[in-house]
Amino acid sequence: MSVSVSVGIQWGDEGKAKIVDYLSENSDLVVRFQGGANAGHTVYVGETKYVFHLVPTGVIHDKKCLVGAGVVFDIAAYLEEAKDLAEKGADMAKVFIDERVHLVMPYHKHLDAARESKRNNKIGTTNRGIGPTYSDRASRNGIRLSDLAHPEVFSCKLKENLDYLNFMFKEYYDMPVLDYDEIYKEYMELFEKIKPNVVDGVTLINEAHSKGDNILFEGAQGTLLDIDYGTYPYVTSSNTIAATASIGSGLAFNKIKKVFGVFKAYTTRVGNGPFPTELDNANGEDIRQRGKEFGATTGRPRRCGWLDLVALKHTVMVNGVTDLVLTKVDILSGMKELKIVKKYILDGKEIAYFPSHTSDVENLEMVEEDIACWEEDISQMKDFTKLPEACKKYIKVIEDFTGVNITIVSVGPDREQTFFV
Ligand code: GDP
Ligand code: IMO
Ligand code: MG
Repeated sequence: MSVSVSVGIQWGDEGKAKIVDYLSENSDLVVRFQGGANAGHTVYVGETKYVFHLVPTGVIHDKKCLVGAGVVFDIAAYLEEAKDLAEKGADMAKVFIDERVHLVMPYHKHLDAARESKRNNKIGTTNRGIGPTYSDRASRNGIRLSDLAHPEVFSCKLKENLDYLNFMFKEYYDMPVLDYDEIYKEYMELFEKIKPNVVDGVTLINEAHSKGDNILFEGAQGTLLDIDYGTYPYVTSSNTIAATASIGSGLAFNKIKKVFGVFKAYTTRVGNGPFPTELDNANGEDIRQRGKEFGATTGRPRRCGWLDLVALKHTVMVNGVTDLVLTKVDILSGMKELKIVKKYILDGKEIAYFPSHTSDVENLEMVEEDIACWEEDISQMKDFTKLPEACKKYIKVIEDFTGVNITIVSVGPDREQTFFV
């Protein structure tokens, strides 16, 4: 039996889904535990491209899947995704949803856009209603999936929320108001469509654990987008670190034994906020084009930069990463110039930690180090020992700096382009 968590340890889009797909082969249950349809997870299997937002990636390996209590759930988005996956052959009867998930309501998406429009410093959210849904959870105005099985409770909560929010939409945001009857009817209909897949997720996961199933947790976003340990306020609204797997599923934290920290051979970020090693130049553009760095959820171009080892050490630490997973190293082959960062300068002093205040992160100067690149195309390689020497050196530098071994390397988007070191 194994219980593992796979998390992104940069700003998201590290190639997590590809790795979860790879690890799913030996898993019995794959579990999402935080985030929502803000996630965009891409997997290529041969000619077929799968894009996930809410459904755990394990479904394409025909594994049982759970959307855990910590996810914010958009029923309509889920059904659309489920339809697409079913058309590509996935058995959606294997995907279960914890009745505790908080529902993303139409007013959450309106609020997401409205709040963003009023902010001086825009976050650049995905507009999927994530922040407002988690806010309602914390302020105890949230509506959970199980409320739909109690129409009188649902009706009462919906009325109360709309009463307040419609006032805000009209008087403060100068936006159209939302209609109670329409939303009530829509959500009752949506509920009928997913009812067979709604379960008590805590029982499901603990029973799976008791019978010795291999459980794999699939993180969304990345540690630098974590609401506490990321670049606040330019973050998402959930904790994204490995410890959240327990909180967002109901499987006790001491059952989790392995933490895969997935990171790209360089760094990217979508949305706003500080990004110390960002390259606003030809190298950044080169990486974007080579790596096809455009968002899977919003299509926005991703900002690109060198690998930031200081940030990586911070995220390895807060996650308790036991195994590093390096992705997209194939993208660097043949780069004219390659640099990494092992320390920063803040207020004239060298530092080797990731500052907690965003203003400090914004003011960092980079101490870039040149590192040798390699010419060879490595995208078909399957054996660590056959990698070009410079590539092996790149890997060694990362391992030495973070103190954790890279155990999986990904050299292309396809499931097959992955190997254990
Ligand atoms: P996620 O959000 O962490 O799951 O990552 P995304 O799916 O948003 O973005 C990663 C992109 O890189 C996807 O288009 C993947 O198909 C692709 N990808 C993943 N690993 C590799 C790799 O090792 N090499 C290359 N070239 N592409 C990869
Ligand atoms: P995956 O799982 C990259 C970013 C948004 C924005 C910030 C807040 O594919 O790695 P939100 O909509 O969550 O309130 O937006 O977080 N963001 C992501 N960036 N990958 C993601 O998910 C992201 N999910 C949210 O761009 O900057
Ligand atoms: Mg993504």
